[in-house]
Amino acid sequence: MAAAKTHCGASFSLDAYHVSEEFGFILPDPLDELPPYYQPWMDVALRIPELVHARELRARVNKMPLLSSEFLQKHRELRLAHLALSMVTMGYVWQEGEGGTVEMLPCNLAVPYWEVSQRLGLPPILTHADGVLANWRKKDPEGPFNMENLELLVRLPGGDSVQGFFLVTLLVELAGAPAVASIPRVIDGVQRGDAEAVARALEDISQSIQDMTDALKMMQVYVEPSVFYGIMRIYLSGWKDNPCMPRGLIYEGVHAEPLQYSGGSAAQSSLLHCFDELLGIRHETQNGDFLSRMRNYMPPAHKRLIQDLSAQPPLQEFARRQADGQLNRALQLCAAKLLAFRSYHINVVGRFISVPAARARQLRQQRRGAGEDAVSRAPAALEERGTGGSGVMTFLKSVRDQTKQAFLPEAGKDVE
Ligand code: HEM
Repeated sequence: MAAAKTHCGASFSLDAYHVSEEFGFILPDPLDELPPYYQPWMDVALRIPELVHARELRARVNKMPLLSSEFLQKHRELRLAHLALSMVTMGYVWQEGEGGTVEMLPCNLAVPYWEVSQRLGLPPILTHADGVLANWRKKDPEGPFNMENLELLVRLPGGDSVQGFFLVTLLVELAGAPAVASIPRVIDGVQRGDAEAVARALEDISQSIQDMTDALKMMQVYVEPSVFYGIMRIYLSGWKDNPCMPRGLIYEGVHAEPLQYSGGSAAQSSLLHCFDELLGIRHETQNGDFLSRMRNYMPPAHKRLIQDLSAQPPLQEFARRQADGQLNRALQLCAAKLLAFRSYHINVVGRFISVPAARARQLRQQRRGAGEDAVSRAPAALEERGTGGSGVMTFLKSVRDQTKQAFLPEAGKDVE
């Protein structure tokens, strides 16, 4: 296991952060069954698309027994319970679209969901840690970790595109695992003053970020933009900064007042947060606030890794002191790869959000009814916003520009 001493002498082992060399932040080998007592949850969770389609999910949830969460013991049991209850909650809230939301989540769902969330340190809403990191199984356990041999444990409405969206994101996470595994080598090299070792670790991180960009390219193969925009996206939306649910959601039996939570977004992936901290890339106040808030939607151990990285001695300063050509080139390359990932991601967001949004506006102006085109069924309130609640393009471009400015005024031009 990769380990290094921190600047205060303590060992920097990825194990301590629930991160594995092979899988990075992905939950290794998630469970696909809960103890039989929890069958009423799984009966609903495993049928979300059809129950939503028949508009029966809310009625089924209202009839669920109020179960105690105390028989969930292992971490992987809690993760599956959180995934199942999160997906059921999204189906419950959004079953009737943006015009038919609810004010309250009933106590038979809200109370155990709250308890499980508290025990995991996750918020009571669908997160990236649920839908992506803990929502997979191999069809053939001995087979490869690829699109053909993977399937989701729990699904939302949207058919093959839902499967494609979560699994491609999972493969982006997998592609980023070697980068995370190389981080202790960077820290160790800095401590020993070994510029060459740091350079080699940074070269490996660059390759891994390049592999993430390549994996992200599969999104256009496996996900249909009109299905993503018109059908799936609402089920990822939260109840914070969302005009459809301005007050938030009451969790019955938990809090009398409504609570507000952002929806699921890969902005909650720990990968880019780690790279930013490692490379010393800081974001402007408003963007930085949004990204910091997203850290509260990560498993606490992953959030701790990001915080501990931010406390390491600045890498750019080390590189300046060392004045080593190979190290400087490796650092520039790493930042350039990160910039290229963010640029390509903006391209993806254009294809999956901006273009279908323009089409939806056009259809509305022509007053063509729902059903002709999936995009016409999309919630209008989300047009300019990400599911995490940000103003999409302004936010993403400014995060990208900050990556460029913070680091590579020259090399950034080459990448684009
Ligand atoms: C169809 C695919 C995708 C779409 C439409 C999309 C959309 C978005 C949007 C709208 C945001 C703004 C934050 C929000 O409000 O949610 C965002 C942020 C972000 N997304 Fe994606 N995303 C996609 C796939 C991915 C994947 C696979 C990753 C990789 C893990 C990723 C990583 C990020 C990151 C790291 C941010 C935060 C901004 C940054 O650090 O650059 N996204 N995404």
